[in-house]
Amino acid sequence: MTFDLQEAAKKHLWLHFTRMSAYADNDVPVIVRGSGPYVYDDKGKRYLDGLSGLFVSMVGHGRTELAEAASKQAAELAYFPLWSYAHPSAVMLAARLAELAPGDLNRVFFTTSGSEAVESAWKLAKQYFKLTGEHGRYKVLSREIAYHGTSMGALAITGLAAIKGEFEPLPPGGVRVPNTNFYRAPEFVSGSEEEFGVWAADEIERAILREGPESVAAVFVEPVQNSGGCFPPPPGYFQRVREICDRYGVLLVSDEVICAFGRLGYYFGAERYGYLPDIITFAKGATSGYSPLGGMIVRDYLMEPFLYGHAGRSATGERHYTEAGKIPTFLHGITFGGHPVSAAVALANLDIFEREDLLGNVRKHEAGFRASLEKLSDLPIVGDVRGDGYFYGIELVKDKATRETFDDDESERLLRGFLSHALFDAGLVCRADDRGDPVIQLAPPLICTQEHFDEIEQILRAVLTEAWTRV
Ligand SMILES: Cc1ncc(COP(=O)(O)O)c(C=O)c1O
Repeated sequence: MTFDLQEAAKKHLWLHFTRMSAYADNDVPVIVRGSGPYVYDDKGKRYLDGLSGLFVSMVGHGRTELAEAASKQAAELAYFPLWSYAHPSAVMLAARLAELAPGDLNRVFFTTSGSEAVESAWKLAKQYFKLTGEHGRYKVLSREIAYHGTSMGALAITGLAAIKGEFEPLPPGGVRVPNTNFYRAPEFVSGSEEEFGVWAADEIERAILREGPESVAAVFVEPVQNSGGCFPPPPGYFQRVREICDRYGVLLVSDEVICAFGRLGYYFGAERYGYLPDIITFAKGATSGYSPLGGMIVRDYLMEPFLYGHAGRSATGERHYTEAGKIPTFLHGITFGGHPVSAAVALANLDIFEREDLLGNVRKHEAGFRASLEKLSDLPIVGDVRGDGYFYGIELVKDKATRETFDDDESERLLRGFLSHALFDAGLVCRADDRGDPVIQLAPPLICTQEHFDEIEQILRAVLTEAWTRV
């Protein structure tokens, strides 16, 4: 007797962020293997992975080289913690990430996921300020509709009311500021992206002043905000945010769980937009998903209290040293953080990036990707096409001229009831998302070229044309 995957999936597996009741009468999609930018289901049907799984599979599927790196590491040393000990793969990966990261982002704390990376950054900010005498700083600013993870701390930073309510009360201190959705900019700043960017950045300053600067620890921002459908920063936005953070002594955390490792044609999104954050959080693409890994990369000065005690210096520049036995420890750790297998895979993943010049591939082909998606603007349902690199959102509207969006029922019928299934049935993995206004999101593997963009465009055209007949 063969094992019935469908039956067992329906009976025992709990899919994440998924309405399980929808599978009472429908099959659960089961993906069994992948090759390059394609994946295959249990019936042998092929799909173009237009979302890199979940913004993860940067180098594509089926790379035996990464499987071998994992196997070799597991045979040599499958596990040892980073609590008090080091192992070579984590050391080498930390050094390599420090080399790749901009400025003095030189210290790496590993986790297993993006949520843990975000939690770690918030905890570090809190402990850092306690140690440096600014005891009142604990609040975190983040942008409306931004997703920063699901664990309680990360959820408090997340700006999506719909996924938070059930879990209130969350840790206090999460404060919202506007995002950079220029398509939906308030009327009075909709004239130019620059003007809009100044307003959106200044809203951060206004929030800091409103909350009291002495209570604000950090601002969490993605280089390109994912949730809501890819909001790139307006020109000058990050430079102004950096200035504001400096003015009030607030840490700037670049949450690059999606945007790092080539998604925007650079190792880190902060490089693309020319700003230096205090902390970068990462996960997803670090290993292309061949093993889980996340972490944060931290600027040197944030490490000082943990190396020397108090980080302050005297007027003559001398460092204040604490008695050796009293130098504090970052009171945080995760059993599997920086797992040897994951670290080894991440190193091999970066070897592929270099050998195949994947950043170069994204930079060479991103204009083609944009052009392919922009072709869809002739469809009445396509309101806006936005993004950068290999990271795009297509906002769907009911009325192009007025930008009127769909109400909740229409959105439910269109996205959940039709588009998600229809796109998948047509052979494209992407995401129909209504956490903000309804969007289709695309983030293909970095190995993709024009032929794949043509395929994406053709499938989207056919399915969106059909969707319009149902509006
Ligand atoms: C920007 C951002 N931060 C944090 C997270 C949480 O990462 P994880 O799902 O690995 O916990 C995500 C996940 O999509 C994300 O996009």
